Amino acid sequence: MPALREMSLADVNAVALIERRAHPHPWTRGNFTDALASRYLCKVYERENVMLGYLVLMPAVDEAQLLDLTIAPEHQRQGLGRALLDEALEMARNMKMRRVLLEARLSNVAALGLYRAAGFHEIGLRRRYYPSDNGEREDAIVMERLL
Ligand SMILES: CC(C)(COP(=O)(O)OP(=O)(O)OC[C@H]1O[C@@H](n2cnc3c(N)ncnc32)[C@H](O)[C@@H]1OP(=O)(O)O)[C@@H](O)C(=O)NCCC(=O)NCCS
Repeated sequence: MPALREMSLADVNAVALIERRAHPHPWTRGNFTDALASRYLCKVYERENVMLGYLVLMPAVDEAQLLDLTIAPEHQRQGLGRALLDEALEMARNMKMRRVLLEARLSNVAALGLYRAAGFHEIGLRRRYYPSDNGEREDAIVMERLL
């Protein structure tokens, strides 16, 4: 069974390697060290010492922002993303959060499918929010899941 544990500075290289393989516009090592320094909830998802994925959740008063949730490409489409997302929702619930918010690229079919299947719905659009490959900017969908 996969299990969650705290991410530490010692994990950041391995996390950033997965991040670069999984995202067209990855977070940098610095983004992860900043998240740890800011005391966001940063967790690694592992099975038998193999890192399957990770998440970064930023609590703010009564809501939590899911800043990153990633499953390594070779472990995708096995239900792990959904299981990790359920862990994030449970963490937020345990902290008495009222809702979880996130942003996803319009082109991120896998993420939008995952979040919709887990009960998130769209509450807004941030136009030209993300950089994209062709020098243009890409819209972000803002999604919410009430707890
Ligand atoms: C999004 C992501 C976390 C999904 O992880 P996963 O382990 O592959 O997802 P699961 O196997 O748990 O799939 C759960 C549901 O998500 C949806 N989904 C996942 N991958 C999908 C894809 N490639 N296309 C369409 N829907 C997809 C489906 O509804 C799926 O349910 P189903 O398998 O019964 O059809 C993974 O693709 C990933 O890490 N992507 C890169 C990072 C990223 O974009 N993260 C989200 C934004 S931070």
